[in-house]
Amino acid sequence: MIKTSTPGKLYLAGEYAVVENGNPAIIAAVNRFVTVTIDENTDRCSITSKQYENHLVHWERINSRMVVDDRDNPFQYIIAAIQVTEDYVQALGKPTQKYHLSVNSDLDSGTGKKYGLGSSAAVTVATIKALCQLYHLNISKVQLFKLAAIAHFSVQGNGSLGDVASSVFGGLITYCSFDRQWLSEFLHKITLPELLKLEWPRLEITPLQIPPVLRFLVGWTGSPASTSQLIDKVELKKGKHGIHYERFLHDSNKCVREITNGFRQNNIRLIMQNIKKNRELLQSLSQMAGVPIETPQLTRLIEIAEQFGGVAKTSGAGGGDCGIVLIKSDCDIAGLKAAWRDAGIEPLDLSIYNY
Ligand code: MEV
Repeated sequence: MIKTSTPGKLYLAGEYAVVENGNPAIIAAVNRFVTVTIDENTDRCSITSKQYENHLVHWERINSRMVVDDRDNPFQYIIAAIQVTEDYVQALGKPTQKYHLSVNSDLDSGTGKKYGLGSSAAVTVATIKALCQLYHLNISKVQLFKLAAIAHFSVQGNGSLGDVASSVFGGLITYCSFDRQWLSEFLHKITLPELLKLEWPRLEITPLQIPPVLRFLVGWTGSPASTSQLIDKVELKKGKHGIHYERFLHDSNKCVREITNGFRQNNIRLIMQNIKKNRELLQSLSQMAGVPIETPQLTRLIEIAEQFGGVAKTSGAGGGDCGIVLIKSDCDIAGLKAAWRDAGIEPLDLSIYNY
């Protein structure tokens, strides 16, 4: 039996801008996990997930393609992760084998709703990590990121893959998105082992630390949002607002740089100012693209956090899901959480997860 867990993530800054090649974001891995278990004691390949009431699919590899017995199954990311890893295994000249793969996730609420903590990235990474153990593949973290990025990209296609980086590396990172156009062009021209050895243009992942005087809090609004749909909406509108969009990218990058400097220099004022600034930038993007990034419930979450001395903003695509707060540890954090609860916002008991 093999078991692997990978963390979910939250964005601190740089959302949407990071979707454009070479732009940075700051992302925190959090201590909630997707767990994948592999049981080799079987003669048929299958997948089940607790989050889908133990929905069961069987599959087999025919001419190197995975053929699944249920076309409408909810396991697209898992299947893509298996496909990519087993392509890699075959490219190394190793045989593949049969196993049952089961998934359990605490990135979902008890009612089956997702918290917006990057569950698709976490399940992709957890699946590949488990398969690397099964097939005794000794790969580096960067190579794990590359395999998971290829798998995730083949399903979602429009994201920055920052959440994949966060699940792989853990902790707090600045992530600079690589050139995904380059990846699509290169993908089928060279073998996977060669692709994993190459430097990917613009990809940068750097670890950071939150200064000890700051606490990181998370509130959940209870309404789920679709990242992919929100990215598409922004994508559709950005051409129309060329100059403003370029300005947004420029200012977002500046914010991420300043927050990164703030973390490195323990400069709390610089961090706080730029978290606020990043919120304003996302609000202006939201207006420009006509996309509801900061919902009224997220605004409420932010205003309450500010009343207690924190700075707060939407996290990730927004449109619901979570808001994040940075606040000095001597502020009334219990009072803030109680005020959130009164306003129907659930404080999530999360902290940054380091491997
Ligand atoms: C979503 O979690 C963050 C976005 O920047 C999209 C992405 O980076 O893939 C909105």
